[in-house]
Amino acid sequence: MSDFVTEGFHHVTLVAHDARRTLAFYRDILGFPLVKRTVNFDLPTTYHLYFGLDGGKPGTIVTVFEWPDSPRGAAGVGGVHHHAFAVSDQAQQLKWKRWLQGKGVPVSGPYDRGWFTSIYFTDPDGQVLEIATVGPGFDLDEPIEALGRELIQPNPGRLVGGRDEAAIRAMNHPEPVEVIDDAMRLHGIHHVTGFTDDLVAANEFYERALGMRLVKKSVNQDDPDTLHYFWANYDGTRVLPASDLTLFGWPKGARPAREGTGQTHHIAFRARDEEQLSAWREHLREQSIGVTEIRDRTYFKSIYFRSPDGLLHEIATDPPGFALDEAPDHLGEELRLPPWLEAQRDQIAANLRPLEASPAGRTR
Ligand SMILES: [Fe+2]
Ligand SMILES: [Fe+2]
Repeated sequence: MSDFVTEGFHHVTLVAHDARRTLAFYRDILGFPLVKRTVNFDLPTTYHLYFGLDGGKPGTIVTVFEWPDSPRGAAGVGGVHHHAFAVSDQAQQLKWKRWLQGKGVPVSGPYDRGWFTSIYFTDPDGQVLEIATVGPGFDLDEPIEALGRELIQPNPGRLVGGRDEAAIRAMNHPEPVEVIDDAMRLHGIHHVTGFTDDLVAANEFYERALGMRLVKKSVNQDDPDTLHYFWANYDGTRVLPASDLTLFGWPKGARPAREGTGQTHHIAFRARDEEQLSAWREHLREQSIGVTEIRDRTYFKSIYFRSPDGLLHEIATDPPGFALDEAPDHLGEELRLPPWLEAQRDQIAANLRPLEASPAGRTR
């Protein structure tokens, strides 16, 4: 394999109808601090919000475009089904279930997937989200040095129809959960799951483009007649956290995803710096994969390309990061604009709907 093996996810970008509602959900319910409030550089009448842990560390970043006039999107081939965030263990996961329910968010699970345990819910726009335990890991049912070689049939007790749904529904933390405590805190992206109608082509693409390797070939436990493949940065000794992309295999020609609110706009992988980003770009070009020029996204530099199914992929640099134009302990507090939009600041700010009720005595 080449030197080009992705170091995992940098961020994921979603589309939402109403930035205020998005802020209330991701910051106040999921506990992701807002690390940047800015506008969509291509459509500065709308917000682009960045959430992330530890000041917006790559692998923990969720960004959301506000598209107030967009129809709702639809899941399908070339789209993302869900994003999973990591939690340390099942006890903390059950606290999340209770916490989310206390906030009026319906939750399903916990489902024992074998390699991890999962709960599911949706954001206010309908994007499916998951909280998954870090362990036990993909070496549960295959040796760590031989992941992803054989088709693994899960225990029938884990499959829809074979599992005890009433017992799963009843599992919960015994007490109401009033705050997100430190033990509960999410660790960032656990995996991202999309849809393909060609697992063979997808496998070839992720190996060739991003140096990812299969770490599990199995069936969709909620639709056991279809396959579910998992890829990651995997070297035969370990699976790198925050690098796991998974795809449900749908029949050839199955319905495509439709862009819009409640859908994922793109997923981004990491580059160490601009030099490595240029090298990734050359690598993709050598693989005959159409890739954009390097674009300046202020907080990182980026290139874009598409998977065979049409899902938009990005590679983004770790630096300079979100402390570029704000003090690290005041990230996300004020509207930030790139230099080329600063001249229009007053007009842009006047056209944006306020994100929060202004504290007494302040107007914004
Ligand atoms: Fe998942
Ligand atoms: Fe992006």
